[in-house]
Amino acid sequence: MLVVLVADTAALDREAARIVAHRVREKPAITLGLAAGSTPLGMYRELVRLHREEGLDLSGVTTFSLDEYLGVAPSHPRSFHRFMREALFDHVNIPPARIHVPDGTASGDLEAYCAEYERQIARAGGIDLQVLGIGRDGHVGFNEPTSSLASRTRIKTLTLATIEDNRRVFAEGERVPECAITMGIGTILEAREILLLGAGPAKREAVARAVEGPVTASVTASALQLHPQVTVLLDREAAAGLRHLDYYERVMRTTATLTPGRAARPSG
Ligand code: F6R
Repeated sequence: MLVVLVADTAALDREAARIVAHRVREKPAITLGLAAGSTPLGMYRELVRLHREEGLDLSGVTTFSLDEYLGVAPSHPRSFHRFMREALFDHVNIPPARIHVPDGTASGDLEAYCAEYERQIARAGGIDLQVLGIGRDGHVGFNEPTSSLASRTRIKTLTLATIEDNRRVFAEGERVPECAITMGIGTILEAREILLLGAGPAKREAVARAVEGPVTASVTASALQLHPQVTVLLDREAAAGLRHLDYYERVMRTTATLTPGRAARPSG
């Protein structure tokens, strides 16, 4: 894991967008896995700015969203479909036919629906770069504690803590979804590269357990330790629970010397 520390969320947004934009320029026909939620919002804003002001061309990009609330229609104001459109898709030139978000209103054989989502990812050549946020309970996607570390796209029941966290974006009195369609940990680990974003004090414990704790299904983000190409990009508040901060700072200095001006590739 390459742990990258930045001062605040503004720096995190810029650095995350810089890494994604760098990969898009390296491989214009890249396939991105994308998270919704508050953490990557500023990164999407910065990508839109790079597209508008600095000519970042996303016309070759394919995207797969990590998850969607079950029972929530793509048009619902709080769906991840809508979130992704408003945050990114409506403002850049990714061809709509290459944008994939699980359909929360999929009906009939949901297992078959999820298996087809996996096949679509495979047909696109797999995910080159997967962007992740992290839940307070250490989830990535909606892979709640005790999710199999080999899991594939499927329906997951959300924990009460996650439901409470999600409540803030739903209207007063509105039913907050209790289940989601989510890529599995096995799906996520097949991405060629992973960028995990963590911001704010609420993520401090989850980040420490994911990065420095044992690999355990109780903190599904800890499974990223098994992946050879992971960057964990953190603001100071999210990083505050880490024990090896001085080491990560030294690694950052070394990496900057070895690959000046480049989006470093994580190694090990
Ligand atoms: C969203 C997702 C979730 C979020 C996580 C953090 O697509 O997969 O794992 O990344 O719940 O959410 P925020 O960023 O809102 O704190």
